Amino acid sequence: MPYENILVETHGPVGLIRLNRPKALNALSDGLVTDLEKALDVFEADRSIHVIVVTGGEKAFAAGADIKEMAGFGHMDAYLNDFITRKWGRLATCRKPTIAAVAGYALGGGCELAMMADIIIAADNAKFGQPEITIGTIPGSGGTQRLTRFIGKSKAMLMCLTGQQMTAEEAERAGLVAKVVPAADLLDEALRIANRIASMSLPVAMMVKESVNRSYETTLAEGILFERRVFHSTFGLADQKEGMSAFVEKRQPNFENK
Ligand code: CAA
Repeated sequence: MPYENILVETHGPVGLIRLNRPKALNALSDGLVTDLEKALDVFEADRSIHVIVVTGGEKAFAAGADIKEMAGFGHMDAYLNDFITRKWGRLATCRKPTIAAVAGYALGGGCELAMMADIIIAADNAKFGQPEITIGTIPGSGGTQRLTRFIGKSKAMLMCLTGQQMTAEEAERAGLVAKVVPAADLLDEALRIANRIASMSLPVAMMVKESVNRSYETTLAEGILFERRVFHSTFGLADQKEGMSAFVEKRQPNFENK
């Protein structure tokens, strides 16, 4: 499928999407977000793809929503079109595991996009920020909510109220990113992690993801009940039989994703 604003590749069971508007530092234009949504739909529907990696370029993962595109919007343009809603959140609604591999700027909607992924791997030159306040608006794609859950109120307030950026090292310390690697190794490391996840049973990986995400949406007791029921349901999988038999027989499992 032809895309104007992204590049799409497959690496075995891993689908890779590269945001590709380098001249605009991958600013999230309507065209880019439309392409991203379509590519995610395709990978989600493709049984041979187990994990999706989203990355940008060396200088920018994405420098936010396209300011030139939205600068002239009135309130009713934003409200009636429900700006930054449907396709913008597609990464967050993927059922397969997702990884954001972030180098350079991840600002505004770029930081918010990365936070929609299940795991953020950062290059050592990555910079995260919610600079919306500096252009007279506020984060609109989940920044005030997801960032606060990741790094806590005080650090989220500092970033959202000052527009100050966080380095990759600080982001790792704060729990925003899972791992920091040298910029030259970013994609290899993201693909290595993606391939490891892809070597597991796909339905089990999806159940893990669904259960971890549940912790954001519910009480501890309800979350544990949800986890318990999903755990029970894994005993209906051929892959549970295979995984446990392989352990007992001291061999590698051969998962069939069922
Ligand atoms: N929208 C549109 N164009 C953008 C952009 C954005 N968010 N960010 C960068 N660009 C464009 C610049 O206009 C410039 O284009 P021209 O060459 O045509 O002038 C090009 O990308 C390169 O950018 P700079 O010359 O500014 O590069 P720099 O290295 O000097 O600075 C930067 C890099 C610090 C990231 C700076 O570009 C910047 O501050 N960008 C805006 C960041 C921002 O405010 N993001 C939040 C947007 S609002 C939002 O995202 C809302 C939401 O919650 C969804």
